[in-house]
Amino acid sequence: MFSRRTAWSVAPNRIASALEARRRAGRPVLDLTETNPTKVGLPMPEAEIRAALADARALRYEPTPFGHAAARAAVSAYHGSAVPPEHVLLTASTSEAYALLFKLLGDPGDRILVPVPSYPLFEYLAGLEDVETMPYPCAWEDDGWFVDFATLEEQVDDRTRALLVVSPNNPTGAMLRPDETDRLLALCRDRALALIADEVFADYVFRDASTRVRSLAGRDQALVFVLGGLSKTCLLPQLKVAWIGASGPAALRDEALTRLEVVADTYLSVNTPVQLALPRLLALRDAIRAPLMARLVANRARLERALTGSAATALPTDGGWSAVVRVPREPGEEERVLRLLTRHGLRVHPGFFFDFPGEAFLVVSLLGPEDEFARGAAMLAADADAP
Ligand SMILES: Cc1ncc(COP(=O)(O)O)c(C=O)c1O
Repeated sequence: MFSRRTAWSVAPNRIASALEARRRAGRPVLDLTETNPTKVGLPMPEAEIRAALADARALRYEPTPFGHAAARAAVSAYHGSAVPPEHVLLTASTSEAYALLFKLLGDPGDRILVPVPSYPLFEYLAGLEDVETMPYPCAWEDDGWFVDFATLEEQVDDRTRALLVVSPNNPTGAMLRPDETDRLLALCRDRALALIADEVFADYVFRDASTRVRSLAGRDQALVFVLGGLSKTCLLPQLKVAWIGASGPAALRDEALTRLEVVADTYLSVNTPVQLALPRLLALRDAIRAPLMARLVANRARLERALTGSAATALPTDGGWSAVVRVPREPGEEERVLRLLTRHGLRVHPGFFFDFPGEAFLVVSLLGPEDEFARGAAMLAADADAP
């Protein structure tokens, strides 16, 4: 009766079962996996957000496939006008932006190159559009992360349609270097691939920006789609609005936009109140982002301090909301995550959730309140040294 593409295994894994058992028993959990920005006690300009959403024009419906002109102009301004408003398309989420792009670019069985380690949802997003993900590895050295081009180039074949980059990446925090960006754009141009740049975390950068590329918006060496959205930029995932900014050789870009317009017109999924609010919400972004940025920097520093002298180390990062901690191989990632939960009541993600190569890595969110985060970081250090 059901499609093969929805034949997922939904049985809870050992970690989810252990967590559920602990919660049922009423035992506390210090959760270092929380990435919902509305749940971590950050101050928000609530009155301004409510006022932005109360526009009386929302009572009228004026369907526009790419979104209201003023909203698209605000997105263009957010990108420093690198992408003009007519090349901006609003979506209900970045996930939906991926769905539209995979529909545009891939026939069933076609392939999308995705970085590894990275965001686990890509496999689902691709599978739901009947395209496949092909991993290309990213590795790190003292100075940060880099793309393994030798493997990446070997992965491109005649079914490959697009190459995806996430910058800063989730969870590694890696951003592209200028030479890597040029090489990726040249590869996409030469092999007729689209480059999809997920920049949802681009407002959260720790590293000196001159050594990394902030955005691919407006790059025209190949067909490029940059993705962004309010879920990270304004900490408003519940408003469900994101965008695609297209650039590239004019003929390709225009053909892409013409086709995307029909796809977008088929769904018209972005609601009117949020489109009307978008210019005002984007104008609030610096005020919204500042307290979180301070927290991310403080938590990262706390983590590094807590791990100093322990058997655990934080991998290098350029930005984003997460940190990756390398821990001793034994007793294995899953066992360590279970042990942290049962011994300390600490919840962290295992590296294998994000397809880390080899063992053992843990992933923590930097979003939580600083005192809680400091307690969690101390537990991680103590556990790394425990037999
Ligand atoms: C890399 C990356 N892209 C996209 C998203 C999802 O964003 P949205 O809420 O706009 O679908 C996330 C969410 O965590 C993410 O980590």
